[in-house]
Amino acid sequence: MTGNNGYITVDGKPFFILGGQVHNSSAYTKDSMAPLWDVLVRMHANTAEVPVYWEQIEPEEGAFDFSIVDDVIAGAREHELRLVLLWFATWKNGTMKYTPGWVKVQPDRFRRVITADGFPLPVLSPHCPATLAADTAAFRALIEHIKGADAGERTVIAVQIENEPGSYGSERDYSLEGNALFAVEAPPAVMSLLPTIAASGLHQAWAENGSRTGGAWVEVFGRRAAEVFNAWHVARYIDAIAAAARAVYDVPLYVNVWLGENGFRDAGYDYPSGGAVSDMIPLWKAAAPHVDILAPDIYLPDSDSFRQICAAYSRADNPLLIPECGLRPATARQMFYAIATHKAIGIAPFGIDSLVDEDGAIVDTGVALVESFAATRAILSLIPQAQENGRLHAIVQEEGVAEQFIALEGYNALVQFDLSWYGRRAPTRGGMETERGRGLLIQTGPKEFYVTGVGFTVYLRPITDVDRILRAHPRRGQLDPWLLVEVGRFEGDRWVVEGRRAGDESDFGLVMAIPGQAVRAVFD
Ligand code: DGJ
Repeated sequence: MTGNNGYITVDGKPFFILGGQVHNSSAYTKDSMAPLWDVLVRMHANTAEVPVYWEQIEPEEGAFDFSIVDDVIAGAREHELRLVLLWFATWKNGTMKYTPGWVKVQPDRFRRVITADGFPLPVLSPHCPATLAADTAAFRALIEHIKGADAGERTVIAVQIENEPGSYGSERDYSLEGNALFAVEAPPAVMSLLPTIAASGLHQAWAENGSRTGGAWVEVFGRRAAEVFNAWHVARYIDAIAAAARAVYDVPLYVNVWLGENGFRDAGYDYPSGGAVSDMIPLWKAAAPHVDILAPDIYLPDSDSFRQICAAYSRADNPLLIPECGLRPATARQMFYAIATHKAIGIAPFGIDSLVDEDGAIVDTGVALVESFAATRAILSLIPQAQENGRLHAIVQEEGVAEQFIALEGYNALVQFDLSWYGRRAPTRGGMETERGRGLLIQTGPKEFYVTGVGFTVYLRPITDVDRILRAHPRRGQLDPWLLVEVGRFEGDRWVVEGRRAGDESDFGLVMAIPGQAVRAVFD
């Protein structure tokens, strides 16, 4: 289970997931995984996200082979990484690609979603008890295996059930069975939820259709009915799998989401219908109580959209976990909003195999992300507590921005995104994928601050000391009466000092130019 404000815990402490997800087909063999462990270490990740394929672990019905799971656990341990396993089964991006051959060749037994004009899709129906039973049996066997292999060390810290579930290609299953279920009244659990979720997209769909107290799905939800109906059934299906796993072993379980904020936003076409898109979060929470977290895959490159999604999923009943995001420069700055502004408990870029070229060098487009990971790793153990007391601030240079002002307790901070005299300049313009100044500022006490990041200088000034401001030299840095400025990084909970700053290196603000090195500043 999760604890401490939704954090996944390791050794009883909240554990921030600084992760990386491998490409979809990388985890079939020990050999294909072999080079990736090192990539994860080099990117300063603490967690690997790795798929487990139903087709591989149950090639024949009832005959399981978990050797690849053992290999993956061993690889993670050898590299001192934790693991999140991804269960690619009934649904992978809203289709059935990773189901075993014996599922694929028996469509009469494992029934498909049928489109409105009568065609079967390569998508399994959420209304088929035989499929649910088969997936549940396989997932339970996987969880039993993890328990046997890992209950002592707990290398596996979470498991993702399915991957971006829902129906891709149709908003719901129009089979006879699907139509019959769609014709009945929306269940009391849905109806009683609606008055309690004002301001949600689901509530809006209900209100637009007259806020009825009962009726068939289409009467209650109008044009959104097929999606709401499918979301209810997909969530109930997944909850049954989660409940079966929970009965075996207590490991955090989450479901990832292909966002609804895509293209024309038509369920079933622009994204799989029935997933836990932002409008369906309350419904999913009610339908799937055995799932700990609904986790958005956020690939949106502009920060406003990125932050809107963070805000939608960061709720009292749902911590923000981003199990996938783009492996690109935009993520290198957006991740600091997720951590500081939206209390993320973890983030993992997708496709870390692509972070290195054939010679093993970090690709140009990956450098900024690796630097941001290094910066975050340097103060990682401070994050959970700082999120709680609101003293964690994102430093992010957006397009055209040269300065950022941050109000602190007793102090103000001024950030300048120009390190030209340190041989490094963060351009103020250049498009969304341009590398920018970014990092975190944490106030850990009335007069103590940690700064991490790259591409900026930060000045701190006491708010009330008017006399001193009047007397002081006009240059900003000269106003800062530091008692102590240290550089270093956290190793676990321990701050390891690597050097000190004074004179030019602190008189003119705190220059942040070395990504893996944080600064601790204490005032007198
Ligand atoms: C989201 C999926 O969840 C991943 O498995 C992968 O297919 C990526 N999309 C590719 O961008």
